Amino acid sequence: MFHPKGPSFVELLQQGLSSVERGYDLLAPKFEYTPFRTPESLLKASLEQVGPPGGVQSALDVCCGTGAAMRYLRPLCRQRVVGVDLSQGMLDEARRLLADAPGEAALEFVRGDALALPWREEFDLVTSFGAFGHILEEDEPRLVDAIHRVLRPGGRFVFITGEEPSALRPGYWMARAFNAAMRVRNALWSPPFVMYYLTFLLPRARALLEARGFGVDVRRDALPEPYSHYGLRVVIATRR
Ligand SMILES: C[S@@+](CC[C@H](N)C(=O)[O-])C[C@H]1O[C@@H](n2cnc3c(N)ncnc32)[C@H](O)[C@@H]1O
Repeated sequence: MFHPKGPSFVELLQQGLSSVERGYDLLAPKFEYTPFRTPESLLKASLEQVGPPGGVQSALDVCCGTGAAMRYLRPLCRQRVVGVDLSQGMLDEARRLLADAPGEAALEFVRGDALALPWREEFDLVTSFGAFGHILEEDEPRLVDAIHRVLRPGGRFVFITGEEPSALRPGYWMARAFNAAMRVRNALWSPPFVMYYLTFLLPRARALLEARGFGVDVRRDALPEPYSHYGLRVVIATRR
């Protein structure tokens, strides 16, 4: 649908009628050719905010998918880069695609839930890209708690999110219409596929992070155009 090597409309429909885990297992071999994969320019610009190569001991990428961010994290880390994802299919692709990734840090691929991360104070950097739409709004405090728990004191959580969009933009109404259709789909069909737009946006993300004891720094000009213009921001939340 998006690229000759990407999924067809029928394949996307099948994936959308599955659970999140099964849907991504099915999508994994073609995921790199979809717009759901975070673009290189966004990852590069975000992770440039972290500091020089080797400046971090160990990092965790939550909802790592096919490992797009892990490729940029590896040279930043001295010890280990862990990717965690619900979908074993996505993790298998990540392992394959990162076989030649530059850097020395050990790479680990762990199947797990972002809401129940199985570590405690082990990482000095946590990242997550393109995946907050899979976390229900009522579960966002649990996500923030989970990330707080795995970070060492002083560790940073780096991610991209958006400013609250203007209701005058057509994209706002398209996103709202998509969310309404997804709610209908999930009311009528099981298993649910959790995927909603306009979630964990800045005002709410900041409030949740600050309530959990993070210091929140929003970098307004870190991303290239047109992303900055559309209100996307890099956020660096530091565990106090
Ligand atoms: C749109 S992809 C983004 C992948 C990658 N971070 C990127 O930016 O290209 C979303 C990923 O989140 C994973 N995911 C969704 N819900 C999750 C959860 N609760 N815990 C862990 N991974 C999850 C999916 O399996 C999928 O690989």
